[in-house]
Amino acid sequence: MGPLRVAIGGLGTVGAAVADILISRKDLIAARCGRQIDVVAVSARDRSYDRGVDLSGVEWFDDAAEMAAYADANVILELIGGEDGIAKAVCENAIGAGRHVVTANKALLAMHGTPLAQAAERANVAVGYEAAVAGGIPIIKALREGFAGNGIFSVHGILNGTCNYILTTMRETGRDFDDVLSEAQELGYAEADPTFDVDGIDAAHKLALLAGVAFGTEVNFGAVHVEGIRHISADDILFAEELGYRIKLLGIANRTDPGVEQRVYPCMVPMDAPLAHVEGVFNAVVAEGDAVGTSVLQGAGAGAGPTASAVISDIVDIARGMVLPVFSVPASKLTRAQTVPIGSRAGPYYVRLTVLDRPGVIADVSAALREEEVSVEALLQRGRSEKGSVPVVLTLHETVEANMQRALARIAELDTVVEPPCMIRIENL
Ligand code: HSE
Repeated sequence: MGPLRVAIGGLGTVGAAVADILISRKDLIAARCGRQIDVVAVSARDRSYDRGVDLSGVEWFDDAAEMAAYADANVILELIGGEDGIAKAVCENAIGAGRHVVTANKALLAMHGTPLAQAAERANVAVGYEAAVAGGIPIIKALREGFAGNGIFSVHGILNGTCNYILTTMRETGRDFDDVLSEAQELGYAEADPTFDVDGIDAAHKLALLAGVAFGTEVNFGAVHVEGIRHISADDILFAEELGYRIKLLGIANRTDPGVEQRVYPCMVPMDAPLAHVEGVFNAVVAEGDAVGTSVLQGAGAGAGPTASAVISDIVDIARGMVLPVFSVPASKLTRAQTVPIGSRAGPYYVRLTVLDRPGVIADVSAALREEEVSVEALLQRGRSEKGSVPVVLTLHETVEANMQRALARIAELDTVVEPPCMIRIENL
């Protein structure tokens, strides 16, 4: 078979790392694929910038969308990013011209995954996106191939390294969120605009893709309930430790009788759960299947090397002739799942209140909980305050979220509760 010709759209750290690996490990990769893989074209804004890769002899395009349509290539890599605009044009042009697409772009696929999958399958080309979810962890391959004999009923995990780094550092140092975020930005671990990461949107993009491939459902980013980590305080992290939990931002997708649950929120996981020990920038994904049982995959979620490694695994699949349905079943067979609203969640909860330190406060809080049939498991108060207010922590037995929310609204109205309640779900994974 002749060489597979690859065109790279976007030569940032990931694009340059992909080019470097494809060029410097040409013989190894050719031996694994049974054919050579040649980088034949690239597109990036600045031709003069030294990326540490020898691109002599490679055709240069100023416009990646034009490259996708006209380069003499079999595979177009979209490593530009963004949920629309040039990234979408690159993928559409590539598919329109009958070329395979490999992308690391979770936002694009979370928004347009189903129509792109339909177009790709009509054109009999692949859309590879291993790099879009949890970087170097081969979770798409695991779900689509390794677990193909299973009914998957849950896929969940730590999908954002920035949040996991911040929560880990808060726990290790006792510092507050804002302080740790600023330092993470200075060190380059967090973006100057951290919104996508710390507000849970990046994890939600990834979760929407995981749910699609795990359950064979249309990708539905709009159905993901999303909460970030800005409201988590150093106190919450300490109380979590005391109660035997760690706080993690999780993406959780469950297939249940009423439909599909897709949720991203910070939650407490028991100290003995594998996810509690995934720290720093690492990601981990847990898949639960009816044949395989529980499988945990852990690894680097981002960075040039791990992301490039995932991109190249997709290119190698294409070189070997593998063109799989994008989301594990043909796009025409993807089902439209009923969304299970967050109000239906049933589980235990942690609530931290800031209350005036005077008699009767706990009675008022208990009355609000009783009215909504929320049952207290434990109550913690540490010390007395000279400022007049103290944190009081409650854990609540399994409760339906709608009841919990109504109870919290009642509690927030009490004169003796001086700050909005902080609620964190407990996930006994
Ligand atoms: N910003 C992401 C993270 C990596 O912090 O995990 C790319 O999705």
